[in-house]
Amino acid sequence: MHLLFLLSLSIWGIVAHHHPDICTAKPKDIPVNPICIYRNPAKKEQETVGAEQEKLPGSTNPRVWELSKANSRFAMDFYKHVADSKSDTDNIFMSPLSISQAFSMTKLGACENTLKEIMQVFHFDTISEKASDQIHFFFAKLNCRLYRKVNESSELVSANRLFGEKSLTFNETYQNISEIVYGAKLWPLNFKEKAEEARNTINAWVANKTENHITNVIPEGAITDLTTLVLVNTIYFKGQWKSMFSDENTKLENFHKSDGQTCATATMYQESKFRYASVSNDQVQVLELPYKGDAVTMVLVLPRMNVALSQVEQHLTTDELHAWLELITETTISVYVPRFRIEDSFSLKEKLQQMGLVDIFNPETARLPGIVSGGRTDLYVSDAYHKASLEVNEEGSEASASTAIVITGRSFPIDRVVFRANHPFLVFIREVAINSIIFMGRVSDPCSK
Ligand SMILES: *[C@@H]1O[C@H](CO)[C@@H](O)[C@H](O)[C@H]1NC(C)=O
Ligand SMILES: *[C@@H]1O[C@H](CO)[C@@H](O)[C@H](O)[C@H]1NC(C)=O
Ligand SMILES: *[C@@H]1O[C@H](CO)[C@@H](O)[C@H](O)[C@H]1NC(C)=O
Ligand SMILES: *[C@@H]1O[C@H](CO)[C@@H](O)[C@H](O)[C@H]1NC(C)=O
Repeated sequence: MHLLFLLSLSIWGIVAHHHPDICTAKPKDIPVNPICIYRNPAKKEQETVGAEQEKLPGSTNPRVWELSKANSRFAMDFYKHVADSKSDTDNIFMSPLSISQAFSMTKLGACENTLKEIMQVFHFDTISEKASDQIHFFFAKLNCRLYRKVNESSELVSANRLFGEKSLTFNETYQNISEIVYGAKLWPLNFKEKAEEARNTINAWVANKTENHITNVIPEGAITDLTTLVLVNTIYFKGQWKSMFSDENTKLENFHKSDGQTCATATMYQESKFRYASVSNDQVQVLELPYKGDAVTMVLVLPRMNVALSQVEQHLTTDELHAWLELITETTISVYVPRFRIEDSFSLKEKLQQMGLVDIFNPETARLPGIVSGGRTDLYVSDAYHKASLEVNEEGSEASASTAIVITGRSFPIDRVVFRANHPFLVFIREVAINSIIFMGRVSDPCSK
C-alpha cells in the first residue's frame, strides 16, 4: 500500500480561510496526540547548555516561535540539497514551510525509526518536548498567525487535503486531527479501479485552489491501483507592494547569468525608502520590499557583482540570514529588480533521502501505523511532489497580462545607494514578526520561461 505525498505551491494566492476555533483554542481543548513519541536523547543537555536568550516577538506563543525556527533550519538544509542538484543557471522556487507541514502530518501516524528520521530531518527534535508532541496544534497556530495578519490587499491562503482509497478505513483520530489542522475532511477516491480519474480529480482540486496557477501537479503514472493516500498541501499568495513600481519606469536591461551569458529582461525601477543593508563581510546587499500591511515581505539577497551566488549559498544558515535582517535599516535607495516569473517542480523523495529521511519511503521499513485503522504496517510514502511558482511584477506578486515595455530615460542618481539585481540573487518571502520563511528561491535566469 502506498501513500503519495504531494505539495503544490504557488505564489499568487491561496484560497482558504483559517478556522477560528483552532486559532483561539488551547492544546487541552483539541487533543492532537501522536500515536508514538520520540525523545532526543541528547536534548536535555543541549537545553541547559545553550539556553538561548532570543527575544520573542510580542504576542507570539513561544512554541510557535520554536517551531518556526525549526522550519527555518530545515528550509536552509533543504535549499542546499536542491541547489546542489541544479545547474547554477537554473531558477529555484519552493515553499519549505509547506514541506515541513505536510511531513508533520505523517509524523502524527509514524513510529520507530520512521518517526525518529522525521524528527531529525525536519529539526522537530530541536524544539521542546511539549511543542513536538503537539506539533499539529502549533502548526495550526502558525497558520493562524500567518493568515490572520495579511491585509485585504494581500492574500495568503493555504489549502490542504487528504485523498484516500475509498475501500479502506482510516484511523478516526488521524482523520479528526487532519480536519482540525487542515480544515478539510478526507476525500475518498477510487484509486484501485480508477487511478487516472482519481489523479485528474486531485489535479483539478489543486488547480481550483490555486486559481489555476498550479495545474497537473501529479504527473501521469504517479497514481496506481496501489495508492492508498495522497496528501496535498497548497499555498497561494498574492501580494501587492506597499510601494509599487511604476510601469513607465520598466525597461529592458541586461541580466548577467552565472555562465557569463547575458539576456535582456524587463527591469523595474523605483527610488524609495526601504530597509536595506550592505554586508561587507559576506559581500552581499540585503533589501526588504514589504507588501501592503507590512506583515509579509520579500527579502532579496544580492551578492556583489564579482561574487558568485553559489559562494553565498554554500555558507547560508538561519543564523546568517537572521543576522542580515538585524542589520537592515531604512535607507533611500534606487532599486532595479527584474520582472520575472519562475516555476519549479520536483520530486522531494531523492532529496529527502539524501538528508536522512529513508525509512518512510521504503515499503519494508516504513512504520505508519497511526494512519490506517488497525495499525497496518504495509503503508509507505511512494513519492512526494512539489510545485511552486512566483510571479513578480510592478504591482506586487501576482499573475497578470504583461504590459508593453515603455522605454523612458532614467536619470542616474549619483549619490544614491543602488540595488541593481542584474545578476543572480536569492529571494525569500517571509512573515516578519516570527521570521517564518514561507517561500524561498533564487532567480538565476529571469529571461527563461
Ligand atoms: C472524531 O470527531 C468526531 C466528530 O467531531 C467525534 O464524534 C469522534 O469522537 C472523534 N473521534 C476520535 C477518535 O477522536
Ligand atoms: C473553484 O471551484 C468553485 C466551486 O466549484 C468555483 O466556484 C470556482 O469558480 C472555481 N475556481 C476556479 C479558479 O476554477
Ligand atoms: C489594511 O488595509 C486598509 C485599507 O486598504 C488600511 O486602512 C489598513 O490600515 C490596513 N491595515 C494594516 C494592518 O495595514
Ligand atoms: C488510531 O490512532 C490512535 C492514536 O492516534 C490510536 O490510539 C488508536 O488505537 C488508533 N485506532 C485504530 C482503530 O487503529
